[in-house]
Amino acid sequence: MYVPRRDTPSDVSIVCNRGVRRLRVALYGDCSKILLMVESLKKYVEQITELPTVPVVAQEILGIVDDKLASVDRLEKVIQNDPAICAKVLSVANSVFFRIKEQEPVRTLGSAIVRIGFNNVKNIAVGVSLLSVFDDGKRAEDFDYQRIFNHSVTVGFIAKLLYGSIKQNITEEIVVNGMLHDLGFMVLNRYFSGEYRKVLKKMGKEVSLLEAEKAVLGFNHTDIGAWLAEKWNLPRNISDTVLYHHSPSLSKRKSKGMAVIHLADYVATRNIMGPVRNDPGYPLDHSSLDMLGMSEDDLENMEAEIGKGSFSDDPFKTG
Ligand SMILES: [Fe+2]
Ligand SMILES: [Fe+2]
Repeated sequence: MYVPRRDTPSDVSIVCNRGVRRLRVALYGDCSKILLMVESLKKYVEQITELPTVPVVAQEILGIVDDKLASVDRLEKVIQNDPAICAKVLSVANSVFFRIKEQEPVRTLGSAIVRIGFNNVKNIAVGVSLLSVFDDGKRAEDFDYQRIFNHSVTVGFIAKLLYGSIKQNITEEIVVNGMLHDLGFMVLNRYFSGEYRKVLKKMGKEVSLLEAEKAVLGFNHTDIGAWLAEKWNLPRNISDTVLYHHSPSLSKRKSKGMAVIHLADYVATRNIMGPVRNDPGYPLDHSSLDMLGMSEDDLENMEAEIGKGSFSDDPFKTG
């Protein structure tokens, strides 16, 4: 169970300066380039006049402790108060990550808790409620909420599978970190989707998504995502994951959890779905394998498993 930090800066200039200078130097080169990135990010976020606040349902769920029987009732009540969140939690509970073939889909939160467990339902509900504030109900060919949502949940659950298989000392809340890792895309999709289409046009065989973002926006989705995580006062392990999920070796506070999210994102983007159409993926940060005691062969085997499993299809199909 995580607790929001108290020492969070709320101003973008502080966010951009706080603890991430090393990353900026590594990603953006010299200091003048870092300043340009900060200025560009600032220019964009200043245009956001109404940023959604952390939903009440997420705040309440975060206040529920894990292992008390009474908490099950409370969790059900909190989620049921929000029918849209409740429906999404059930759809994730019925996705291929949890549902064994031929098994009847769960239709109530109570049965979801029985089938997939209290912690899973709780973590899904936190992730879903935070992502849902960006749901604009629209679908687009190339850049849309539902695709980013599906990718985010997929990464959360590949991270959970990976965590289960390597038996490392990582908390189950890794699911939430996975679900929120691309928070930046949510902000960009909601507020700057027109501008982001220019990024997608620029992206191609020779130009990665991250390079195209830097060229068009002057910053990456990781930067604006970390800005939001700070604004929302999310725990530091989440804002760090958001910022470093493409290159965990650059983080000052390296963690196995961050390495797991990097691998899960890498595998999900290559084998199931990326956050945008035709995403060419990104290079593997090999240090994440070292951190988890995994070899290249282990990763290949994992990709093969996922490729031949039901994960290769839309994980949210309920039929
Ligand atoms: Fe990403
Ligand atoms: Fe991702």
